[in-house]
Order: sequence, then structure tokens, then C-alpha cells
Amino acid sequence: MSSSAPYRVLFVCLGNICRSPAAEIIFNAVAAKAGLARRVQADSCGTASYHTGSRPDSRMLAALERAGYTYGGHRARTFCRADFSNFDLIIPQDEFNERDIRQLARCVSDNAKVQGMWLWFGEEETEKSVPDPYYGSAEDFDAVVALLTRSMERLVADLSAVGC
Ligand code: 4NP
Repeated sequence: MSSSAPYRVLFVCLGNICRSPAAEIIFNAVAAKAGLARRVQADSCGTASYHTGSRPDSRMLAALERAGYTYGGHRARTFCRADFSNFDLIIPQDEFNERDIRQLARCVSDNAKVQGMWLWFGEEETEKSVPDPYYGSAEDFDAVVALLTRSMERLVADLSAVGC
């Protein structure tokens, strides 16, 4: 952590068009606000390839815009084994994503990098997942943005505390 290389965080969901690109955008904004912009690097991807090459879902972009976040141009891609080498921390958004990522792990240290988003949920959150808003309403997309914002504040505080 104290080396000069940025600490690399990968957010993972199913399609990489709703939750994980939102997580990446919100993480970058919260990290920048905390003065960590040069110390961390984020990316996102999906466990499924249906949406490879697509922009985030327009409903998610609208919810992010309502909350004051800016889309930086991410295009969907699929998780691959090399991601275990290319990232320090891999954060699935739900337990299905976690299971699918762990199935590709090559060793104990790959598995140790996988830490569910819910580890940074507060006590007010009872679910162990970022709810999938794909078949939901605008309010469901807003709720994901709010949950991720609360979670990223805790994650960025943790990274800051360990010297990022
Ligand atoms: P995400 O949401 O995993 O948060 O990007 C979904 C995107 C697409 C689908 C499901 C969830 N889909 O079934 O195509």
C-alpha cells in the first residue's frame, strides 16, 4: 500500500451496465473528494458478456446525474482471470457475482482479493447485495446510487486509513 503504484479496485456485477459502472463512478468521485485521486485506480466489469461494449444503462446514467455524478465514458467488459493479477481488490455487488468470480480464482491470494460490496454497508442495510435495478423503477436506480454512495464513503475511509 505504501508503494508508489496506485491501489487498483475492480467493481463487478452481472452485466456491467448498472451497478458496477455506478460503483466505479461513485468510488472515483468519493476518492477524489478525499484527496486520493492519484493513489487509487478503479475499473468495473461484468461476469456475463451480454452487454460487452455497451455504455451504462441510460436509467443508471440518469440516476447518477440526478445525484451529481459524471459519466466518464466506460464501456462494458467481461471479468477474466487476468483481473486477479491486475487488481488489488475485487468487489462483487452480489453473492452470485461473488460465486462466479471465485470459480475463476487460481489460488488463495486470488480468493483473498474478493471482498463483497456489503462489507462496507452500514448497520441500516439488511441485505447482502446491491439490489439489481435492471427490472426496477427510477426509484430503484436512485436507491442503488444512494447505497453505493454510503458504501464508498466507508470504503474510501478504510483505504485512506491503511495508507492509500
Ligand atoms: P448489472 O444489471 O448487473 O447491475 O449491470 C443487469 C444488467 C443486465 C441484465 C441484468 C442485470 N440483463 O439481464 O441483461
